[in-house]
Amino acid sequence: MTAVRLRGEAVRKFIIDHLEAHPTDIVRISAEKFKCSRQAVHKHLQKLIAEGAVTQTGQTRSKLYRLAPLVQWLMEYAPETGLAEDVIWRKDVAPSLGMLPENVLNIWHYGFTEMFNNVIDHSSATYVSISLVKTAASTTVEIYDNGVGIFKRIQAALGLLDERHAVLELAKGKFTTDPANHSGEGIFFSSRMFDEFEILSGEVYFSHEFEKREDWILQSAAVRGGTLVRMVLHNHTARTTKKVFDKFTSDDDYGFNKTVVPVKLMRYGDDSLVSRSQAKRLLARFDRFKIVMLDFSGVASIGQAFADEVFRVFRSKHPKVELVPMHASSDVKRMISRAETLGASQDGEHLA
Ligand SMILES: Nc1ncnc2c1ncn2[C@@H]1O[C@H](COP(=O)(O)OP(=O)(O)OP(=O)(O)O)[C@@H](O)[C@H]1O
Ligand SMILES: [Mg+2]
Repeated sequence: MTAVRLRGEAVRKFIIDHLEAHPTDIVRISAEKFKCSRQAVHKHLQKLIAEGAVTQTGQTRSKLYRLAPLVQWLMEYAPETGLAEDVIWRKDVAPSLGMLPENVLNIWHYGFTEMFNNVIDHSSATYVSISLVKTAASTTVEIYDNGVGIFKRIQAALGLLDERHAVLELAKGKFTTDPANHSGEGIFFSSRMFDEFEILSGEVYFSHEFEKREDWILQSAAVRGGTLVRMVLHNHTARTTKKVFDKFTSDDDYGFNKTVVPVKLMRYGDDSLVSRSQAKRLLARFDRFKIVMLDFSGVASIGQAFADEVFRVFRSKHPKVELVPMHASSDVKRMISRAETLGASQDGEHLA
């Protein structure tokens, strides 16, 4: 391949990778990046438009470029007719994803079949739809079911006061309402494999964005009945299902025995983390893991009773569970060391 052709491909790849974030100034940033004229970038844009990868709207100065959907469809199903996630995958979804690298297809295979199986096994829905949109840069799949609603279901199963507490349980992992048939891994791993993963149901919104470092948000949503799951993945990524599974496995055995819990999910509005009962809610089911990383990002401080319950009482009751705080502010660190010092001095008394 000639150098000119290689460079042309690099420019077009850059345009495709950055168009979603820069629909109005893509020409300027591409020209800057490749130190070439705007006219040269225009030539590549025209080629992408001719190929059907990019669309253009607006006039001269206010031109807007977007990635064109290469594939776009919506299909509807009735779960009563007996659906199987692997059949729908093979028949409808995989063929539309088309040519993608194997690691990307594997992530889609895992995420799609897990989320579609959830509809079949947990939603009691009478209607489910799948929508798929593929552009030259990324693919988005949405699965909507008109069933009981995921957060309502979890709230009812656990007798939770607030639907939003369900998000915390899902974020911890190993949560299932049907332990005889399931292990509570589908949402935990799927949410960490995609670039964007969201669940909307009732008033609650569960979201995880890969690039924005473990970012979970709660806010009101507009999905009245049922559950909507949205997954977005770039068509090229170095991520693999194995790398994601390995992140939550501590070296020696191969099981799912490590988790990262975003502590800020405990806070609603301005609630500060002070009480022992809040700590107990955070600690629920921690004993199923060997290592629990407590991510304190977004938590400015914690109270003494909360810290004591987590870092002294729980640790002495469950010495086999390793609790590892991360991203703790200096205030949070101070409260943790206070609780740990007290724990250490009590251990000393036992020995004496
Ligand atoms: N579409 C849905 N409608 C209602 N409840 C749901 C839906 N999807 C998931 N749930 C609830 O969320 C829980 C967690 O789902 P997740 O996929 O993480 O685990 P699981 O399906 O129980 O186990 P596994 O995925 O390992 O088979 C389920 O046990 C179920 O209670
Ligand atoms: Mg599942």
